[in-house]
Amino acid sequence: MKSVAGAGVVVTGAGSGIGAALARRFVAEGARVVLNDVNAAAVTAVAESCGSAPEGYAVAVPGDAASEEGVAALISSARAELGEIDLYCANAGVARRGGPEAGEADWADSWNVNVMAHVRAARLLLPGWLERGSGHLICTVSAAGLLATPGSAPYSVTKHGALAFADWLSLTHRHRGLTVQAICPMGVRTGMFDGSDPQLEKLLGADAIMPDDVADTVMAAIADGRFLILPHPDVARMYAGRAADPDRWLAGMNRIQQCLEEDLA
Ligand SMILES: NC(=O)c1ccc[n+]([C@@H]2O[C@H](COP(=O)([O-])OP(=O)(O)OC[C@H]3O[C@@H](n4cnc5c(N)ncnc54)[C@H](O)[C@@H]3O)[C@@H](O)[C@H]2O)c1
Repeated sequence: MKSVAGAGVVVTGAGSGIGAALARRFVAEGARVVLNDVNAAAVTAVAESCGSAPEGYAVAVPGDAASEEGVAALISSARAELGEIDLYCANAGVARRGGPEAGEADWADSWNVNVMAHVRAARLLLPGWLERGSGHLICTVSAAGLLATPGSAPYSVTKHGALAFADWLSLTHRHRGLTVQAICPMGVRTGMFDGSDPQLEKLLGADAIMPDDVADTVMAAIADGRFLILPHPDVARMYAGRAADPDRWLAGMNRIQQCLEEDLA
């Protein structure tokens, strides 16, 4: 798919932030979009704000996009609305702070929403996509999936998992017409990164971008099909630096960790 015009699209986590920006842009470009979020009021309001374009329109389907039952209900409702789904954006995510001391519930939620939501959607979408020889999955990962986020082990670990799953799907099925792309931004001003956490603000604030900037990069990437979608292009350099010299990279990240700790002391 080079353009979303006329396509049937699902965007999860579309009640806010990056998902809302993607949904609005897709509708403006002529896509038929199902917007999902656990926050029913928010996603209904975003769907109403999308308006319509020639062919493009938005429908809200509130609900959980992570559990097995929730993903099945969403895909079934979306198929009833759109016919086959051409593009599925697994965008919903949660950011939980802490290291191993973070509770079981935070680790389980992170695993479910940030990784298993993508696995469960792919499980249901792949048979139809492989049969017709085309399908498109865009996973909102994070630069944390290529690098790391100090202060948040559940986020760093599960975003690495999300990237690994997207990689695996792409390398396994790209010759069968499947396109998989992974959005990996650093800070984006959304509900998840709203300036209320001083550590995150210090870490990511200076380079933060807006959700519409992410949507711009995604539209360009849909046109050229690249796997890694990097709204902050510098992430490519950091990723290469990490691969070239992991100890140097870890020492640099540890200096950042120490700076953050000094600020909080
Ligand atoms: N904001 C950033 O700095 C940043 C950077 C890199 C990656 N991301 C990723 O971008 C994605 C979107 O986050 P955002 O920044 O727009 O944050 P956000 O909090 O504004 O939006 C996330 C949305 O996902 C919804 N959601 C959470 N769990 C859900 C579930 N189980 N089912 C359906 N909806 C659910 C929330 O209700 C919320 O509306 C996430 O995957 C996040 O990890 C964000």
